Amino acid sequence: MSSSNQSLLPENTDNLISLTIDNQSYSVEKRQNLLQACLSLGLDLPYFCWHPAMGSVGSCRQCAVTQYQNSEDTRGRLVMSCMTPLTEGMIISLKDDKSQQFRETNIEAIMTNHPHDCPVCEEGGNCHLQDMTLMGKHINRRYSGKKRTHLNQFLGPLLNHEMNRCIGCYRCVRFYRDYCGDKDLNVFGSKSHLYFGRAESGVLQSHFSGNLAQVCPTGVFTDKPFSHHYSRKWDLQTAPAICPHCSLGCNINLGQRSGSIRRITNRHHDEVNGHFLCNTGLFGYEHINHNERLEWPLKRNNEHKTTDKLTPEQAQTLLTEYCDTPNENCIAVGSVRTHIENNAALLRLVGQQQFYLGIDDNHAQLLNKLCSAYQETSLSPISLAEVERCDAALIINEDITHTAPRLALSLRQMSRNAGLKKAAKLGIKYWQDDAVRNITQTTLSPIHILESHRSELSDIATQSIVLTSDEQTLLLQEIASLLTAHLNSQAEQPVSSEAKAIVNDLIAAEYPLVITGVQHRDLKLLSLSIEIADTLKRLKQNTGFYAVTQAGNDLHLGMIATNSDQQNRSQGLDSLLKRLNSGTVETLIILETDLYRYLDKFQLDDALNQVKQIVVIDQLLTRTAAMADLILPATSFAESYGCYLSSEGRLQFSFATMAPIEERLAPWQWLSTQIGTPSYSELVLWVSERFPQLKAIETFAELTRFNELSPFRVARQAVRSSSRTAIDAVEHVKEEQPPIDLNGPFTHSMEGVAGFRQTLVQPISVLPADQWSPKWNSDQAGSRVGVNHTREQSSSTTSPWTQGVRIFSPKSQPKDLGYQQTHSSVRLDSEQVRLTPSANLYADFELASYSKALASLAPQKLARIHPETARKWQLEESQQIRLRSDRSQVALECLFDSNQAKNTISIPTCDFRQLGTWARLTPLPAQKRSETSTQERVQPLSNEEER
Ligand code: SF4
Ligand code: SF4
Ligand code: FES
Repeated sequence: MSSSNQSLLPENTDNLISLTIDNQSYSVEKRQNLLQACLSLGLDLPYFCWHPAMGSVGSCRQCAVTQYQNSEDTRGRLVMSCMTPLTEGMIISLKDDKSQQFRETNIEAIMTNHPHDCPVCEEGGNCHLQDMTLMGKHINRRYSGKKRTHLNQFLGPLLNHEMNRCIGCYRCVRFYRDYCGDKDLNVFGSKSHLYFGRAESGVLQSHFSGNLAQVCPTGVFTDKPFSHHYSRKWDLQTAPAICPHCSLGCNINLGQRSGSIRRITNRHHDEVNGHFLCNTGLFGYEHINHNERLEWPLKRNNEHKTTDKLTPEQAQTLLTEYCDTPNENCIAVGSVRTHIENNAALLRLVGQQQFYLGIDDNHAQLLNKLCSAYQETSLSPISLAEVERCDAALIINEDITHTAPRLALSLRQMSRNAGLKKAAKLGIKYWQDDAVRNITQTTLSPIHILESHRSELSDIATQSIVLTSDEQTLLLQEIASLLTAHLNSQAEQPVSSEAKAIVNDLIAAEYPLVITGVQHRDLKLLSLSIEIADTLKRLKQNTGFYAVTQAGNDLHLGMIATNSDQQNRSQGLDSLLKRLNSGTVETLIILETDLYRYLDKFQLDDALNQVKQIVVIDQLLTRTAAMADLILPATSFAESYGCYLSSEGRLQFSFATMAPIEERLAPWQWLSTQIGTPSYSELVLWVSERFPQLKAIETFAELTRFNELSPFRVARQAVRSSSRTAIDAVEHVKEEQPPIDLNGPFTHSMEGVAGFRQTLVQPISVLPADQWSPKWNSDQAGSRVGVNHTREQSSSTTSPWTQGVRIFSPKSQPKDLGYQQTHSSVRLDSEQVRLTPSANLYADFELASYSKALASLAPQKLARIHPETARKWQLEESQQIRLRSDRSQVALECLFDSNQAKNTISIPTCDFRQLGTWARLTPLPAQKRSETSTQERVQPLSNEEER
């Protein structure tokens, strides 16, 4: 990800200058600062306050170098390299006595109050301060006076706070306040009595607070869930993987020891997540270690009312028996949270007509619309880095702060582009962070948001227009017709001032952007968003488009639906329910989907009771798995390899971090005998044939070829500078023999080719080990990755294994959508109310919700209602209401909220998925309040009530 939106500047890789560093000549990219240039050349220069994503403020004084006026100048002068622009022919020295002495004195002063508690600090061995102290040559401590001490704060379940370790570099507040736009962390005090924390103890509010553990160069903020199952960095085994939760496909490193995942760290990807992940991505891994993980095949024994453990062979035999029914009597449900290959194997087993998507029908329809748009129109989604380059945006009906948090962070950086342009005109470089912020102040690029509840991006919005979906439709129609008028050079029809302002800003922009999504299950709004983006693209070729989908792999399910012919199209769970109720299904195979999250419990219980045998392939004992006759334990994404398709259309490969435990297998492996595709490569080739758009997946069929390419394996962790820490030292100091990984280029042992040598033996180099080099042991060594885009010395910057492959590209002859005013709304009667989902990143992603720390941050389930609408319904604050649709019913407590659109009620996503887009509202009498908790489902209505 670009630092400080540097990508806004022209991408000119020829823009190189020459400079001399310690008598060596180098050629570097001109737009960086001197520190960046030195780091990108692999030189050792210590720094603290500079960060590649946040630019320079020149506060720590650690990056001093000597600059000479010319070759005759022998004295030179000290400059802070992070604040020094590059000029042609500049001569500098890092190794001269003067700058070395300065850095040594400076780090000694910085360390005066540091507790030097490395042996008990969780950063120990993985600490930027340790690395920089040694690099700065501060070896002996001379200060013997008292050290300044602080009290620590409780900051919530994600981070520990140990303020005594602070070196006052200001990175934390700059990240928290300037980069993320959150306000509850600040710096207090003055001079050497600075305190970085909250005004009072309490949970940090930012969705990105977990990154402080990486942003802080010392151990002030450390990863709290990691503390609970701590392991030193050198004892971890890591692998490059993809975050499975939302649809953005952020790149992560998973670290495991002894078969349990210990932590997740950011894996730098220039085009996707850059340097940061959201909290869900960082901490949403506890499902892998969960005590409800399934380990053996299980069979329900109805006779003895027990559950019997089976061997894998017995399970396979039973599965064959269950599948031995007339084809149409065996149906299957695919999953949004599993690898593409697993869904493909299931699709191959049952065939298109018997395959149901593990999402509701509306969701399937929207994904289908989106996939068609990518096939037929000029639109293709852009990357998050490209989002950061845009200079005006329209967000339509998607709360990206919760459904796609990392995208919201990119949009926040995008909002700075108008200010950066202003600064650039005055000759201020994009990386001079303080100067840029001083000049730009409140100058923001235009962002218009149409939403049904004011979102957390409203502080950077030009307009945050809170409307019902019907009102949004009208406004979008105005925007669409205005754009069409511009396109056809026709006279404009009179439209609202909001529509005019939006169109003016989009047309004036160089890189306009339209963001939308499927969160609201509103086909007409999605169709209009596509039409608007398509028309805008005809007007402005640089128009960007991003449609957020809802889970790690739901776009692939959309592709399954789109690929089939209209009549035999795979459908969602509403259609599944009808099919089950038809009573013709003998075998139902459910892949990694907890149906109870989507469908009404009572309706689903009834439907499942009509099926002869239910097979569930899943990682966890979900409510659906508890209904199964046969359970096949599946590997998690940490134990198996496979592909994800992000909402950007980036096909990415996720490596396994550890070997499967007990009898777990990847779902496609459970099915491989049935489908007659015994190997991964064969399955992948079948996927490529079946889905021509996924042709790029063939690259990953080469997985096992890594073994042929070289007998040397790549270590899963950086070079070790210590022996292992005995995990059960009280009993013994032996470590079990690690398994051998036959798939892929990595070894499970600590031994192997490490660091920069990886690319010599395998065409891949993606681990933290790759970021290691002598003197750079902390994870922040990774912050040097991507600093210089011109060198491309590492295959990790170009390999499809690490960069993924974008499968959608703009069509050369797109279908002309034109503007179709064909969208009609559902009319509601006076007892019905429109529902909207209230998304939450800690509550909505199924696998992440197994992480205790994240679950504790999930909000109380409430129905948000505008006070005026509440008055219309004669509701009191905190009153219980019942919402009932033809799909389900729930009881919730009311919260009056003037940020909610009138005439709508916003409810938690899980309830919205069950109810749909409208419901009948019944206020519950006061006496019933104590009987019905907000979390609890009401009983089915009696016939009398129903009437
Ligand atoms: S808490 Fe960490 S990031 Fe913040 S100023 Fe102190 S050392 Fe720097
Ligand atoms: S949940 Fe989404 S935004 Fe967060 S790290 Fe994962 S993919 Fe990225
Ligand atoms: S990194 Fe240059 S002054 Fe801090």
